Amino acid sequence: MKNMSMKNLKNMNMRKMNAKIKLAIQKLRFHATTTKTWTWFVFAPRSTHWATLVHILRYLQGTIFQDLLLSSTSSFDLVAYVDSDWAGDVNDRKSTSGFFHVIPVSVACRLEKLQRDFLWGSDGGEARHYAINACLAPLYSVEGMHVITVEGVGNRKYGLDQVQESLAVSHGSQCGFCTPGFIMSMYALLRSSQTPPTEEQIEESLAGNLCRCTGYRPIVYAFQVFAKTNDMLYTDASLSSTPRGEFVCPSTGKPCSCGSETVCKDDTNEQKTACGERYEPISYSEIDGKTYTNKELIFPSKLLLRKLTYLSLNGSGGLKWYRPLRLQHVLDLKSRYLDAKLVIGNTEIGIEMRLKGIQYQVLVCVACVPELNKLSVKDDGWEIGAEVRLSALLKVFRKANKERADHETSSCKAFIEQIKWFAGTQIKNVASVGGNICTASPISDLNPLWMVVGAKFQIIDCQGNIKTVAAEYFFLGYRKVDLAGTEILLSIFLPWTRPFKFVKEFEQAHRRDDDIAIVNAGIRVCLEEKNEKWVVSGASIAYGGVAPLSLSTTKTKDYLNAKTWNNELL
Ligand SMILES: Cc1cc2nc3c(=O)[nH]c(=O)nc-3n(C[C@H](O)[C@H](O)[C@H](O)COP(=O)(O)OP(=O)(O)OC[C@H]3O[C@@H](n4cnc5c(N)ncnc54)[C@H](O)[C@@H]3O)c2cc1C
Ligand code: FES
Repeated sequence: MKNMSMKNLKNMNMRKMNAKIKLAIQKLRFHATTTKTWTWFVFAPRSTHWATLVHILRYLQGTIFQDLLLSSTSSFDLVAYVDSDWAGDVNDRKSTSGFFHVIPVSVACRLEKLQRDFLWGSDGGEARHYAINACLAPLYSVEGMHVITVEGVGNRKYGLDQVQESLAVSHGSQCGFCTPGFIMSMYALLRSSQTPPTEEQIEESLAGNLCRCTGYRPIVYAFQVFAKTNDMLYTDASLSSTPRGEFVCPSTGKPCSCGSETVCKDDTNEQKTACGERYEPISYSEIDGKTYTNKELIFPSKLLLRKLTYLSLNGSGGLKWYRPLRLQHVLDLKSRYLDAKLVIGNTEIGIEMRLKGIQYQVLVCVACVPELNKLSVKDDGWEIGAEVRLSALLKVFRKANKERADHETSSCKAFIEQIKWFAGTQIKNVASVGGNICTASPISDLNPLWMVVGAKFQIIDCQGNIKTVAAEYFFLGYRKVDLAGTEILLSIFLPWTRPFKFVKEFEQAHRRDDDIAIVNAGIRVCLEEKNEKWVVSGASIAYGGVAPLSLSTTKTKDYLNAKTWNNELL
């Protein structure tokens, strides 16, 4: 195979294809499971078979230096987990579904036909479901977790899950790329919700699922049957039910002016429109998603009993993967390998390694280090561990926003709004706050906000010394931060806002959902009353997307100080 260059393969004379396919199959014979199906194609080869074979060879060529090293002391107790649609292969009606094998100490994993999105999670005996992007999840990172693919959720042989059924009935199923993703996002949402989700939550959970070809309406409609609905919204009473008699949009359930003029009713024909569209209540007689009671897939008991362990694995080309479980172990590894890369969600590193060709020799997965995952509320603000995931941050900020005094949570509101539009749920479920900060992308959605809210970053070195750096001074250049090789980001302190201190976010992108910003900003202004006028007592503005790093507009800040806050100033 090594001798066969891709160019040669491409230019191969198709008349000799039959013989060449046989030769290639012979060369692949040692890959028993891979060639099992393809050997059949030798008898009646066509150009499509050849294309598929080239695809496999290309894959193998890219993986010839990848292997796992098992030390002589490794245990060889092989534990296997299967999650299958046993008739999934259209050629032989045999299994093509996901399974993985675990050898404790080292891990040998193989996942066949892993769908784009899958779920994981186990937390002290209680299973939690998260939709994540499989393409960005290193296999080592799901060690000890239960991976559920779309085939495991339901299949043609044993019956579809209600989520799949609803999509099919509502003509929402699209191609094999996007449909499994939609199913898994919805499945994860239902599995992680104690009560039926709201329509807004459903739409939010699907924000990271793209179909490049068609509209989303049938997909969203298919899943609306699982929503918690308020019947009052659909009655005339609701139209005058707000204190000020505002129109309540049947689509969003919120007061709005979009359809107030177009709502009309006469004796013979009732017509309601919302947001300019004709509105018809949806009714599915077959599926009542609100009573979604399908049995949860059983979390493998072996995994429940299994304790998380420190992992030290070897990959291809000398790559090392560590999974420490204590901060001290992280610091020890950092002092041993100065170039070691911390990895959490892998949503930056994964792109760098897969698409930009950057190779890191030592990866230290800190996703399970409790000291880096703390989230605590203090009298003066939040203490946020560097590896807290964005979806977790969004959740606690939303809770605080409901429970705390309005003036205290102005920063939280800005973060909530910014994180809401930050990628899709699958990314937010794994991406960390620290990963975003330390990447120092010039178009990071959150860094301008950290800069203006007066956040402070706690940095710890290998000896355990801690120093504090103001977020404003942390970003030094293009993807460059104020961290030495011996240091890591430990936590972020976010102060509560005080009365008359306002924080606002801004983002301009090509499209609202799931798109990287063209320009973004964080803006803070503090006002105080003087001689019956509001005067600026402090201001800060930072922009992203305008320079190689998130930029603080110091001149504007100085200019605004002590100015009267009025239209002229704005
Ligand atoms: C599909 C997609 C959409 C995205 N959308 C957005 C978006 O809308 N807005 C946006 O701003 N970004 C976006 N991103 C970028 C990315 O998701 C974020 O930067 C994310 O927060 C990175 O976190 P992570 O945990 O995945 O980082 P990782 O990839 O695991 O790590 C990123 C870097 O941070 C370093 N690091 C992490 N923690 C520490 C620490 N404690 N100390 C020192 N170094 C550390 C790592 O070593 C690495 O260099 C998107 C990415 C993808 C793939
Ligand atoms: S139909 Fe699947 S991506 Fe469009």
